[in-house]
Amino acid sequence: MRAQQDGSGGLRHLITLDGLDRAALTAILDRAETYRRVPGQPAYEGRELAGVTLANLFFEPSTRTRASFDLASRRLGAHVLNLDVHSSSRAKGESMLDTIYTLEAMNTDVFVIRDSEPGMPEFLIDHVAPHVSVISAGEAHLSHPTQGLLDALTIRAHKRRFAGLKVAIVGDILHSRVARSTARALRTLGTEDLRLVGPQTLLPPEDEFQGAQRYTRVEDGIAQADVVMMLRIQKERMAASADLDEAEYFRDFGLDARRLELAAPDVLVMHPGPMNRGVEISSEVADGPRSVIREQVNNGVAVRMAVLAAIAATLTRHRRPL
Ligand code: CP
Repeated sequence: MRAQQDGSGGLRHLITLDGLDRAALTAILDRAETYRRVPGQPAYEGRELAGVTLANLFFEPSTRTRASFDLASRRLGAHVLNLDVHSSSRAKGESMLDTIYTLEAMNTDVFVIRDSEPGMPEFLIDHVAPHVSVISAGEAHLSHPTQGLLDALTIRAHKRRFAGLKVAIVGDILHSRVARSTARALRTLGTEDLRLVGPQTLLPPEDEFQGAQRYTRVEDGIAQADVVMMLRIQKERMAASADLDEAEYFRDFGLDARRLELAAPDVLVMHPGPMNRGVEISSEVADGPRSVIREQVNNGVAVRMAVLAAIAATLTRHRRPL
């Protein structure tokens, strides 16, 4: 695999947070803070991506990630193509690589890709031209790097630190790329007390999430937690035979106001979305005073702007002269 960073540490691609050190993650978070605007403030508008063409290729559904890459790149001055993959020639059997080469020939510089096939982003960065970047917007159950960064930004905005925090991730961790990327970000940034909470069948194998504690009773897992991140049950990644009784799941693992009292009084409640209210989280908690779920969405735009600006700065060193 080609490196995600060039020889001077500039970001070339972003397909995983593995291998990016604390300084690299902190630089992205610091830059994202300069782009962050709360709803009601005028959005940041800049020229960091002037002359850059970005293509959004989403082969799985998305609301937050796709919309925020679109807004982030436009707000920094890029030309943006949102390819409707279902009416594209992919539906006629064209390979992913031929789709990429076709759009490269139209001067696309950055590909933002969500795909259910493990290994696709890595395959693509081995094949794109030297002046082209690939950003993963979600790779199978493995990686969702910008989600990990936006979660870290949200936690840092409230807690001002990562060391010493107790962070519980609750739900379908086995199938979650968010859990993998957020855990990686938090570990790199200094969080040691990371708890994975869920039914035994939805916890990941022991060789993943090294150093994390595992809990099958939600009450134990969220006790005194500073952050509780709830995850959706990912039915699309489960065998069709895996029946889930949603009422039973909410009874055993759902986050309601009564359970939340077990966490620290200033706990942050997070959820990457999309939420299934009444399955993993009650509306009272999702919309309640401890919830930062909409702040996560807001931070998602700022983080994607920061990643794109960093990549654009590196790209200028690899572009062909006129
Ligand atoms: N969190 C997240 O990836 O949401 P979307 O699937 O809506 O992009």
